[in-house]
Amino acid sequence: MLTEKLKEIDINFWDQTLSPGHLFIQMGPKLLSLLEAGQVIDKNYLNKYKNSKLFIESKIDSKKYEMFMELFDQLKNIKFEKPNRDHCKLIMSKIVEDWSSSDSHLLTFALACFNTFNSLPTSELSRIDNTDIRLFKKSLYSSCIAVVTAMSNDFYEFSILQDFYQITFVMDFGLCDASYSFHIANAVDAESTGAGNGLLYLEKAKASVNERNLFLGHPEKSYKLLESEHINLHYPELSSIVLYQHETTTGNGFPRGITKREVSSWDAICLYADSIVKMTAIEQLESNCMSYLISESNLKQDLLPVKRVFMKLKNMFHYFQENKKEERVAS
Ligand SMILES: [Fe+2]
Repeated sequence: MLTEKLKEIDINFWDQTLSPGHLFIQMGPKLLSLLEAGQVIDKNYLNKYKNSKLFIESKIDSKKYEMFMELFDQLKNIKFEKPNRDHCKLIMSKIVEDWSSSDSHLLTFALACFNTFNSLPTSELSRIDNTDIRLFKKSLYSSCIAVVTAMSNDFYEFSILQDFYQITFVMDFGLCDASYSFHIANAVDAESTGAGNGLLYLEKAKASVNERNLFLGHPEKSYKLLESEHINLHYPELSSIVLYQHETTTGNGFPRGITKREVSSWDAICLYADSIVKMTAIEQLESNCMSYLISESNLKQDLLPVKRVFMKLKNMFHYFQENKKEERVAS
């Protein structure tokens, strides 16, 4: 039996890169799942089913999606500092409004950010999606969280927000390789709890040399992708964030183990966004995004600049929440 939540897909679906909902095919009385919400729409794979009835369970709020798309579009055309700041504050207030509801709409915002800022070709996106859907979702969510974190840390220009988005998105693309495994996925999550923990995990798990090399080499590989022709950063000097994503001030990081004495607020925004989204906590993040992001217990990065950008994000959430409450009281 079809539930009311399902709708037959419309023609617009085929123009999208990422699916706005779970996609199903009807096989007799049964529904079989073809695609998860947020996944890359593989047109070659779905073409086989083009003449069948396909149904979608939407996981986004289309009105809010259109609203965020319009707000970003307006931001692109604002050239002066104060209007830029005011417009970003408006976007942040809308995010807080949206994420304060018990059923979070993180995917709605993530798709609006993706369709606004992404410039990677579908072939590259499919590569990470086919490697591990959770790794893809980690990129999709951490990059939009980088945009919110950047705005709450006083970066308001469209072009720099786009750079933060693209840099955070590609950070783990270097992991897409035949040696990617369950061990690597666990090492990625372990690393976000502290520098060097990913490597410790691989040692304990007796991971192979290939797995170890892949993990240690991924910042360099992701950096090469960023430097390739696919992505043109507005501020190319920011690309080194990808290269040094796992280097720390203590020298415990990798691949070079150098002491990166200064972690700028640029680095810290991307490091925060990358480390806060754990593959094992995607559902938790999706179900209540804001409380997940402001929970200190989810913040494992012990670098001071990361804490600083986290505090500004947290303050931003509180500020707009309080504002909303006051508006309600006044009306
Ligand atoms: Fe990484």
